[in-house]
Amino acid sequence: MVYKIDIQSNRKSQDGTILGKISDFHEQLIVHEREKVNILKKSPLTSVSDTEVTYYDRFEKKEKTALMFASNNYLGAITNQICIDTAIEATKKYGIGSGGVPLLSGTNILQNQLEQAIAQTKGFDDAIVFSSGFAANLGALAGLLSPDNLIIHDKLNHASLMDGTIMCGAKMLRYKHNDLADLEKLLRENSPLYPGGILVVTDGVFSMDGDIANLPGIIELVNKYNVLLLIDDAHATGVIGEKGRGSLSYYGIAQRDNIILTGTLSKAVGIVGGFITAKQEVIDYLRIFSRSNMYSTALPPSVLASAKAVFEFMQTTDIVERLNQNASYLRTRLKQEGYNTLDSQTAIIPIVVKDQYLLTQISKMLLDRGIMANYIFPPVVPPNLTRIRISVMATHTNEDMEYLISSLNEINATHPIKKS
Ligand SMILES: Cc1ncc(COP(=O)(O)O)c(C=O)c1O
Repeated sequence: MVYKIDIQSNRKSQDGTILGKISDFHEQLIVHEREKVNILKKSPLTSVSDTEVTYYDRFEKKEKTALMFASNNYLGAITNQICIDTAIEATKKYGIGSGGVPLLSGTNILQNQLEQAIAQTKGFDDAIVFSSGFAANLGALAGLLSPDNLIIHDKLNHASLMDGTIMCGAKMLRYKHNDLADLEKLLRENSPLYPGGILVVTDGVFSMDGDIANLPGIIELVNKYNVLLLIDDAHATGVIGEKGRGSLSYYGIAQRDNIILTGTLSKAVGIVGGFITAKQEVIDYLRIFSRSNMYSTALPPSVLASAKAVFEFMQTTDIVERLNQNASYLRTRLKQEGYNTLDSQTAIIPIVVKDQYLLTQISKMLLDRGIMANYIFPPVVPPNLTRIRISVMATHTNEDMEYLISSLNEINATHPIKKS
């Protein structure tokens, strides 16, 4: 069976035409469908995205139930009644849309309030909200840098940061994942060539490995070589740090000078949207020069109001602690059972399955046992590090997590996962 969608080769066609590459890709997709491999076209949910969901099984043509271990809804905010009521009230009062881009007629008072709440949570002066975390990263990089600058990435940074780099045209170098010696080598060699023109970029929590950037070490280097730092706190917000304040809070770092922080409202916050937060003069500059903000319609009132309600929910309850208790419980149990969870420290827990064919089989077997997880293939991860990617929620019970483990153990008896 040809089970692999080869994304790299599908970007070029054998006959050199645009339609040719679409047709090459489609041939592989048809094989997937025939084999009932459900990787590219997920079965849609027919319920709210909670710890337990129903979905429409496209192959069996019926609705089924599953435990959700694939959602970024870490805090269960999607079903939080106060946040839902806040969204409804905002819609009743302000309608369904914003009616314009932020700098023309689109800024609602709710947007100012949310931006202040984000800045306060993260300890910066001000913030700008965007229509997504992806747009925030594009806006930050394309807004700040130009082709005469240098950008230095951690090798595992998110795709949106890579695309922002292409847009700004700066020269790009990458250091080995979380490797301070490699970062220092690049800074030592390049800082004399780009005086005042270097930006180091790192995810706060890495989206595929679930580990945390070594920010104390990175900031020491950033200060030593007098360069700027951008942290993408997409998976850190609502997850690590005091009451989910993120990666700087996790390490107790007080410095805010020379740091720009981006994030999303789509993961722990449970909705959609993104943000940049930084010192006032940086934000004032980016309100004009972030084209993905300036030329894109502002978020609707329901999103603005309910996102602010989720930030309050994080600050005023023990929900973040509950998330971290669950993540720590599941990680410890998986390790005890002998699974390879890499260096995960957060609610994202990879389980390495090095063989891609085995991984497609395991994906079907877990779903047959009523478990929805994510399966990560190249180019998102290297070919020898394909994986099941588990996302824990604060609202999972120990019973849910033990069911996941016993299902994995059952599958492992015939399809070896632990050896990976
Ligand atoms: C690290 C990281 N940054 C940015 C994004 C983009 O966020 P959004 O989904 O809000 O566009 C993601 C989402 O996948 C992410 O994992």
